[in-house]
Amino acid sequence: MPSEALLTGIAIERMIDIRRQLHRYPELSNEEYETTRRIRGWLEEARVRVKDYPLATGLIAEVGGIQEGPVIALRADIDALPIQEKSGLPFASLNPGKMHACGHDFHTAALIGVAFALKKQESRLKGTVRLIFQPAEEKAKGAKLVIDSGALEGVQAIFGMHNKPDLPVGTIGIKEGPLMAAADGFLVKVEGKGSHAAVPEAGNDPIVTAAHLVTALQSVVSRNVSSLSSAVISVTKLHSGESWNVIPDQALLEGTIRTFDDGVRLQVLKRFGQVVDGVAAAFGTTASIRWIEGPPPVNNDAALAKLGLAAAADTGYQAITPNPSPAGEDFAVYQREIPGLFLFIGTAGTQEWHHPAFDLDERALPVSISYFTRLAELALDYYSTGGGASL
Ligand code: NI
Repeated sequence: MPSEALLTGIAIERMIDIRRQLHRYPELSNEEYETTRRIRGWLEEARVRVKDYPLATGLIAEVGGIQEGPVIALRADIDALPIQEKSGLPFASLNPGKMHACGHDFHTAALIGVAFALKKQESRLKGTVRLIFQPAEEKAKGAKLVIDSGALEGVQAIFGMHNKPDLPVGTIGIKEGPLMAAADGFLVKVEGKGSHAAVPEAGNDPIVTAAHLVTALQSVVSRNVSSLSSAVISVTKLHSGESWNVIPDQALLEGTIRTFDDGVRLQVLKRFGQVVDGVAAAFGTTASIRWIEGPPPVNNDAALAKLGLAAAADTGYQAITPNPSPAGEDFAVYQREIPGLFLFIGTAGTQEWHHPAFDLDERALPVSISYFTRLAELALDYYSTGGGASL
């Protein structure tokens, strides 16, 4: 790993302090008012231009633009989770029941660091870097809010990252194509006919339907998805009945579907519906499905993935090909609009995302800052030559 004398010339202690301040005061999706105020303060302190887009929380800023040229965007998510922190860290959350358990404090601090570093060389930038501090990623709603605000207009490519606990510090996980899953949710309501438990023939038992559904739905992945593709269906909630001697008239199932490919996603959703209808009918019941549509799969642009590899080579960090993650990430929503690259920064954590004792190795902060500073320069070079620069 290269020395963190940082390539970028900014004080790492300061960046760590910013990350810890964010960690101490986590805010949930769409409630990131204090977080936004803090980010604004830090950016203004470094004379980074804060832009005026209509966002209730979250913030857009810009560096560069002194030289005419392309606009590229870097995005960090800023929200926290409804989890009571149990990390034991000296800078643990002071907001009860809220925690930066996905490391978005790290993402935010890293992007502030990149803003500081790019500001130092602003006159040399061959275009504009738009910095997107996005709210509400955990609810998969924030990217759309940013797009609706107009902040993506004129942007030619977007870059973002997630910390990755299972990768060592100094590694960058870069992969073209699918990286994270489409994350859809479902609620199935089975309606039957209640009866005395001793006289089931007088009713239509929704519990029998629900029980068959839990197993029949597993056939969608095992029988309808190619062995070369992947998908997951998990029923995570099953509720019916109130009494030991009454057959109820209703059963409820909830869960999630994860897929990495639009075609597989459509096929799974279609077969899911057919299995639900068919099984319900087989037992004389009816069923309805309410979909909770999540973000599409994160799907990385091949040319931008090459830029990502070039930035790793230039900064001396180790690029590795990561395994895709079945978690969802609303960065994918930007990639429906413009080319994008989402990657993993190794943070050598002891716990996975969303764990109450989640933490990360702060030595990954300078890695992320120097890496993204270089990536932004390369992306501006690339687009200022019409996207045709040889890589
Ligand atoms: Ni996250």
